[in-house]
Amino acid sequence: MLLNIQNLHVTYYSPGQKPVEAVRGVSFSVGAGESLGIVGESGCGKSSLAKTIIGLQPPSAGSLRFEGQELGSMKPAAFRHYRRVVQMIFQDAVGSINPRMTVRQTLEEVLHVHQMVPAGRVAGRVRELLDRVGLPETVLDAYPREISGGQCQRISFARCLALEPRLIIADEPVSALDVSVQARILNLVRTLQKELDLAIILISHDLAVVRNICDRVAVMYAGQFVESGPSANVLDAPQHAYTRELLAAVPDVGRALKERGRTHRFAPTCTGE
Ligand SMILES: Nc1ncnc2c1ncn2[C@@H]1O[C@H](COP(=O)(O)OP(=O)(O)O)[C@@H](O)[C@H]1O
Ligand SMILES: [Mg+2]
Repeated sequence: MLLNIQNLHVTYYSPGQKPVEAVRGVSFSVGAGESLGIVGESGCGKSSLAKTIIGLQPPSAGSLRFEGQELGSMKPAAFRHYRRVVQMIFQDAVGSINPRMTVRQTLEEVLHVHQMVPAGRVAGRVRELLDRVGLPETVLDAYPREISGGQCQRISFARCLALEPRLIIADEPVSALDVSVQARILNLVRTLQKELDLAIILISHDLAVVRNICDRVAVMYAGQFVESGPSANVLDAPQHAYTRELLAAVPDVGRALKERGRTHRFAPTCTGE
């Protein structure tokens, strides 16, 4: 098992304030190449869970194992490996890229800092990464502000892939993008996942997004998983009242997906994102 989480708790303590229990006893696992969707309304603890998995927020209790090793007791070398192979994609793609660096510099830097390829291979690897995420070489000398939100999200993916990750956590990766661009980025996520045998945890408040990509889905409510299982089962025959409520808020998930799919078929490239 790639990632195994047992009874994880995340609590925020601030002086003079009541502790906030953002994650309250979550358990799940993700195998190599698997995709898990986590859905739930704003404030239910999705990002807190994500930040804990990538090691930005310490858990207050519970166990988090990667390839069988407990995160909290990893030696520095194992932790460095973990921080490289478990990567996160954020909603705010533009804000997560250094505005003073061109696309080329951004990708070269990550390859260089992590010594992913010998110096003589850097330029070639940058071109491969761009190709992987469906961007033309013409963006290489652009700054983030000169390209679109969708293209910036593709650059975030390229920077992630540069590190040859095993698990990518995408926290609302398309929420900030136009609906017409969302489908193309999600399609990219699905293609990368299949071609590179990546494990993906896709976090979203949007059931249609998750259904389209994920083998399994977990429904999160007030810091806990209230329901989980294969996406089709959970979304077609929800057992929990909260899941039914979430589904009711989306009048026709099937239609929404078809419409997004259509956009994709007629505009397979990222021009104009
Ligand atoms: N750094 C923090 N300090 C204190 N409370 C926080 C912090 N980050 C998130 N929270 C609180 O934790 C809860 C879960 O937030 P979050 O994980 O961001 O949920 P989601 O991503 O599902 O919207 C919310 O009540 C939020 O206000
Ligand atoms: Mg969030």
